[in-house]
Amino acid sequence: MKIGNIELGERPIFLAPMEDVTDIGFRMLCKRFGASMVYTEFVSAEALVRDVKSTVRKLTIADEERPVGIQIYGRDVEAMVEAAKMVEQAGPDLIDLNFGCPVKKVAGKGAGAGMLQNIPKMLEITEKVVQAVKLPVTVKTRLGWNHEQLIITTLAEQLQDCGIQALTIHGRTRSQMYTGNADWTLIGEVKRNPRIHIPIIGNGDIKSLDDADQHFDQYGVDAVMIGRATFGQPWIFSRRKLTLDEKIDVLEEQLRINIERCETGTVPTVSSEANYRGTVPNMKGKSAELCGILHTRRHLAASPVFKGIPNFRETRIKMLRAEKKDDLLAILEQCREQLR
Ligand SMILES: Cc1cc2nc3c(=O)[nH]c(=O)nc-3n(C[C@H](O)[C@H](O)[C@H](O)COP(=O)(O)O)c2cc1C
Repeated sequence: MKIGNIELGERPIFLAPMEDVTDIGFRMLCKRFGASMVYTEFVSAEALVRDVKSTVRKLTIADEERPVGIQIYGRDVEAMVEAAKMVEQAGPDLIDLNFGCPVKKVAGKGAGAGMLQNIPKMLEITEKVVQAVKLPVTVKTRLGWNHEQLIITTLAEQLQDCGIQALTIHGRTRSQMYTGNADWTLIGEVKRNPRIHIPIIGNGDIKSLDDADQHFDQYGVDAVMIGRATFGQPWIFSRRKLTLDEKIDVLEEQLRINIERCETGTVPTVSSEANYRGTVPNMKGKSAELCGILHTRRHLAASPVFKGIPNFRETRIKMLRAEKKDDLLAILEQCREQLR
């Protein structure tokens, strides 16, 4: 499967863009374990154009994570075009446009999934961004605004006509936010439409590679994208089963990478668009050590590795409170002992 000239192999599996989750350290680990493509979290076009430093830092990518997409969002045509040009300078493999974010702060202002209520604007942005950059432009969106407006079949054709090179569909409406189950039937319908020739990437509720395989078989999509199920387990992309020791080593490595990245300033230290739930606190003025810990915490707290620990709740609270690398590593080592 190819997007533009990017060769992605057979049945590729992508890491979904997720705010405060898919930072550079996590993306590199997912890549190492077999993710075929990774994405940055969404980046505000308007903040990029205003040159907000913490936002500009979100454009930092590493060669080890390629192919990597940078995702932008916004509601203003000019800002989106300018931001796309800035993103191109950062050298990603593609630029993804977010027309799917459901949260009020974004969608309520007409950006993200808000664009599902203003299709002419969505198409104008898409067309102008495609014209403004040489990189492949892709779109990620939802089935429609609500169940009365399931417009994705027509929308996919319209977006393709704007010149995008792939479309990711999250099988929910904006109204659903993250509730209910993702409905893949419409994703399959878009894929089967003989007019559609761009790759269709299916997304929503994939929990494992077996699950992904089943969705490839059933819906014929070109790629599958995994979001929440990657929390605290970047090895989800691996066909090899890791041992407990290996998994804990990976989490410890993630902590070290994040601290190092905060020291060098490549992980943003301020979460300025903390729009999704469970977000990382504002890190302004915090040490690199604490910044690295804060970037790792949500992964640790959500990692399925610790499921077998009796009364894990208490350990989890300790994990979430630790402010020193050595304290956190000691907790992880205790967990390792308890799980043996
Ligand atoms: C914490 C969090 C942050 C997210 N941030 C983004 C984002 O920045 N851009 C985006 O397109 N989608 C974002 N999403 C949506 C995911 O990319 C994905 O579409 C959604 O979680 C459904 O996939 P899943 O069921 O595999 O998690 C986010 C989701 C979560 C849970």
